Amino acid sequence: MISTAAAAAHPNIAFIKYWGNQDHTLRIPANSSLSMNLDGLETRTTVQFDTSLAADQLILNGEPREGDALARVTATLDQLRRLAELETSALVKSENSFPTGTGIASSASAFAALALAGATALGLCLSEPELSQLARIGSGSASRSIPGGFVEWQAGTDHESSFATSIAGTDYWDLVDFIVLISSQHKAVSSSQGHQLADTSPLQGARVADADRRLDLCRKALLERDFSLFGEIVELDSTLMHSVMMTSTPPLYYWAPGTLEIITAVQEWREEGVQVCFTIDAGPNVHVLCPGTEAEAVKRRLTSLVNIKSILKCTPGGPAWVLGPETSGV
Ligand code: PMV
Repeated sequence: MISTAAAAAHPNIAFIKYWGNQDHTLRIPANSSLSMNLDGLETRTTVQFDTSLAADQLILNGEPREGDALARVTATLDQLRRLAELETSALVKSENSFPTGTGIASSASAFAALALAGATALGLCLSEPELSQLARIGSGSASRSIPGGFVEWQAGTDHESSFATSIAGTDYWDLVDFIVLISSQHKAVSSSQGHQLADTSPLQGARVADADRRLDLCRKALLERDFSLFGEIVELDSTLMHSVMMTSTPPLYYWAPGTLEIITAVQEWREEGVQVCFTIDAGPNVHVLCPGTEAEAVKRRLTSLVNIKSILKCTPGGPAWVLGPETSGV
């Protein structure tokens, strides 16, 4: 028996970050988070359940992968197999539209596409919250790549209560995210490993205790399209997360000299009256955010900086979607 389906999803950028878990296996996060899907970047994944396979197989951007990457795919497939009550192994082929090794995290789009393709291949009619829960098993932030537009992930306390929902559609606010690539080096410490270190920082407790307040302010700024409040809270949240990272044992320094150069430039441009702010994930690259009306001015300024490799422009992206499912054979 062979049953196949394909699906795609966008990665997302968090405005209020997820860092640290209540439960590392189920990826129940320490705090709720809020993000925007990134149109212009996507992962496309095909899942083929095949009774002739002895074990799950993963092909990522044309290369067979084993170890941790395959184990995470198998963990997601195991949940699907449990729901469908079968034991069949699967061949998973996944491709990113953006070049690998650019430092753009692809696990969110990868596991969202995997959850949707796998559920479709098995003919499971899962709700959006159920797909979001499933995507979360492979990568926490993948839960936020299932719904479209601007998305909030309620931390919850267990598998059923921890999932993401859309709070505003793609057309709600024409925010632009310029991803400024400083380094294409692979992350020294993956975010999965990083989450496990979060509680070793004496600052994590304070960051988590204040997270709902920041989330409420960020949601309000977004729903009121108040960029100056938005920028203030997004930068605070990003810097709090990096403060936790840098004060963990062992410490995690994701910033490179070029990261600070862009932070400083963004602060200067804001002093000059440009509506712009920054946020940084688990790597040295900087996401420079602005309203669409400022995009040309911000792009011009960014291209004048010396230490950058390239710039990608993203706008709000839609939900994960199915790419022509096929089911064949018996
Ligand atoms: O989903 P993960 O394990 O790759 O963690 C994502 C962590 C950050 O990107 C740093 C923050 C976030 O909320 O996306």
